[in-house]
Amino acid sequence: MNVGVPRESVPYEKRVALVPDAIKKLVAAGLGVVVEAGAGFGAGVTDEMYRAAGATVVDGATQILGKSDIILKVQPPSLEEARAIKEGTILISFLQPVRNRDILQALASQRVTAFSMHRVPRITRAQSMDALSSQSSIAGYKAALMAASNLGKLMPLMMTAAGTIRPSSAFILGAGVAGLQAIATTKRLGAVVSAFDVRPAVKEQVESLGAKFIDIELQAKDTETAGGYAKELSEDSSRKVRELLHETLRGMDAVITTALVPDRPAPRLITEDMVKDMRPGSVIVDMAAEAGGNCELTEVGKSVVRHGVTIIGPYDLATTVPAHASQMYSRNISSLVLSQVKNRRLDLNFEDEIVNAMVVTHMGEMRA
Ligand code: NAI
Repeated sequence: MNVGVPRESVPYEKRVALVPDAIKKLVAAGLGVVVEAGAGFGAGVTDEMYRAAGATVVDGATQILGKSDIILKVQPPSLEEARAIKEGTILISFLQPVRNRDILQALASQRVTAFSMHRVPRITRAQSMDALSSQSSIAGYKAALMAASNLGKLMPLMMTAAGTIRPSSAFILGAGVAGLQAIATTKRLGAVVSAFDVRPAVKEQVESLGAKFIDIELQAKDTETAGGYAKELSEDSSRKVRELLHETLRGMDAVITTALVPDRPAPRLITEDMVKDMRPGSVIVDMAAEAGGNCELTEVGKSVVRHGVTIIGPYDLATTVPAHASQMYSRNISSLVLSQVKNRRLDLNFEDEIVNAMVVTHMGEMRA
């Protein structure tokens, strides 16, 4: 069976789905790997490195889309790419079923079996496949660097002959995977860090990173699903959170927001009135920008200054660290493939909890 890796076609996307280490493992398991020429350039992988790992390198995506048994990608295919995939192919990539209905429809019409890397279940056996976590940690780290470099202040305490510089204050809103990495990074940069999340369970994780958890009384049953994800808040809890944020943000230099609720628009937590009361020169990096933004003044893909505060709404930050992001994604996606290889063939087990959770189109039908 042939595994195909096309070059990503989204202009800003520098990641690639497989790096040479994973190719060696797939080849050893009996699969052939075909990579489109230039697919790894953005991530620092040359065609020669792919060949040395045992892959065949071909020009153009047509051969890969039309001839592979399994296609591995980072971004969802475009409509044109989806229509070029041959019937019966297995496609594995990030696919946001809610946002990409037309692409899913095209994949179903082509009778493609599509897996979404957004849907890896958060169970122990699937940890090595958890691409949302691997890419979110990179994004959280990068958001912290972005906040530091857009601040007109230093982050750490500095005692110099020219006087003592007090450390900056950083506040992280939402302490999931990205938020915890942003806390760890701003802390390493020397800021005084505090954080808030609606899930009280994260308090201990925040404190173990040396940050202060800002606590308010919310009922856990109001804020968290049985699966450990955040819920949309009741009106009463939302009011308490808004009051807490208004007060907290007044004293902050760098704010990184990461709050998301699965399958819902990002919660709008920071209002214009709160921004007006922030320190001039402070920075908000809104990591939820693509999902609608945690701040009501965020403009996705832009950096704007409003009421003296710089508000940055970046696209997927993992793609700005393409070498390590690809290395981790490649490990995630190849673990999934290898978990389904039997007798040198990919033999999908639809009874498997992981396969069942991830498949979004199969046998001409949309399952999401
Ligand atoms: P996410 O990206 O869906 O959301 C980010 C954070 O925003 C979450 O911590 C959420 O509680 C918070 N949030 C939502 N609404 C908020 C509001 N109104 N105010 C403040 N914060 C708000 O989360 P992520 O990083 O995907 O993690 C989700 C869950 O999955 C967590 O329970 C995490 O511990 C768990 N997880 C489990 C893994 C495993 O067992 N293999 C791996 C990674 C995550």
